[in-house]
Amino acid sequence: MPESKSVRVGVNGYGVIGKRVAAAVTLQPDMALAGVSDVATDWRARVVIRNGFRLFGATAEHATAMRTAGLALAGTLDDLLNQVDVVVDCTPKRVAAKNVDVYRRRGIKFIVQGGEKHEATGHSFVAESNFATALDRDATRVVSCNTTSIVRTLAALKRAGLLRRARGTLLRRATDPWESHESGIMNTLVPEPEIPSHQGPDAQSVDPDLDVVTMAVKVPETLAHLHYWSVQMTREAGKEEVLDAFRTSSRIALINTGDGLVALNTVKELMADRGRPHENLYEVALWADMLRVQDDELFYAYMVDNQAIVIPETIDAIRALTGIVKNPIESIAKTNEALGIGRELI
Ligand SMILES: NC(=O)c1ccc[n+]([C@@H]2O[C@H](COP(=O)([O-])OP(=O)(O)OC[C@H]3O[C@@H](n4cnc5c(N)ncnc54)[C@H](O)[C@@H]3O)[C@@H](O)[C@H]2O)c1
Repeated sequence: MPESKSVRVGVNGYGVIGKRVAAAVTLQPDMALAGVSDVATDWRARVVIRNGFRLFGATAEHATAMRTAGLALAGTLDDLLNQVDVVVDCTPKRVAAKNVDVYRRRGIKFIVQGGEKHEATGHSFVAESNFATALDRDATRVVSCNTTSIVRTLAALKRAGLLRRARGTLLRRATDPWESHESGIMNTLVPEPEIPSHQGPDAQSVDPDLDVVTMAVKVPETLAHLHYWSVQMTREAGKEEVLDAFRTSSRIALINTGDGLVALNTVKELMADRGRPHENLYEVALWADMLRVQDDELFYAYMVDNQAIVIPETIDAIRALTGIVKNPIESIAKTNEALGIGRELI
């Protein structure tokens, strides 16, 4: 049941991220989904209505095309914006940057996703690191899936006073599963042309103090990303001390190859068996039994479900911007409870 002081949320762009954000909003006791705006005229728009959400066309022209395709619309994005306290823009990379002017002109708080640049909002968000600096702002950017995982894990080591510098290699999924008939690489690996890859500098947009360098390569699969990290600690530390540092984050789940969770597909299957919507793995799944400490050096690997990891962050960003919950710990706990995060994965 929504609480009486529900924040009204609009979602612009009902794709990979937007559909998950919309579903997550409906699970929050202090939020109500006002509607969803898109440009699609095919099954993707039909499923919005089937899910019981109000559908809006991004522009009058799109609304006409959508109505012609037989879709029952509640209006245009313009109408939706009259009915929301905050809009989460989940349109494709660089489209949101153009919408920003509209939101600002209308005085509506907004969130963009990681495909946009930091400058689009002047604030980049990861809940456990900087919820407080987003409080009551007009806008923030929830950083990308990879960047979210980097900040979550390095922030945990930093809180424990263990982090000196971190160097990571990212194996990035080629494309999202639903559009793998259209693009994606096969039978090759494609290195990002520059070192450092963009994720390290992007993590510094959330926490400028992080000494982090990333390298990345695109790999021919669609399940998730896999990260390998080598960390120079501030001092010698034992494996249990490091694991305890990671345990301070409710959004890092320790998993073990010894439990049969030996690959990305097995973790995805576990999420399906757990009944998570879209098999969402919201947590960073970090292999505890693989983690090694050698004097003051630390080595570990983890999995990032690129389609899901930013969803809880987006929910917390809504609370921060609107100020309905001012305490990060309270917001994170509320989001976790609604999405079933924070208990053991198995
Ligand atoms: N896919 C991922 O794994 C992932 C992970 C983290 C962050 N992100 C970021 O999230 C954002 C959205 O990415 P996505 O993967 O969900 O994209 P997507 O292509 O899956 O979905 C975009 C949706 O927006 C709609 N759309 C296109 N133009 C529009 C317009 N002008 N107005 C309204 N709707 C429009 C499309 O029809 C589609 O439904 C991007 O910034 C991306 O970088 C994506």
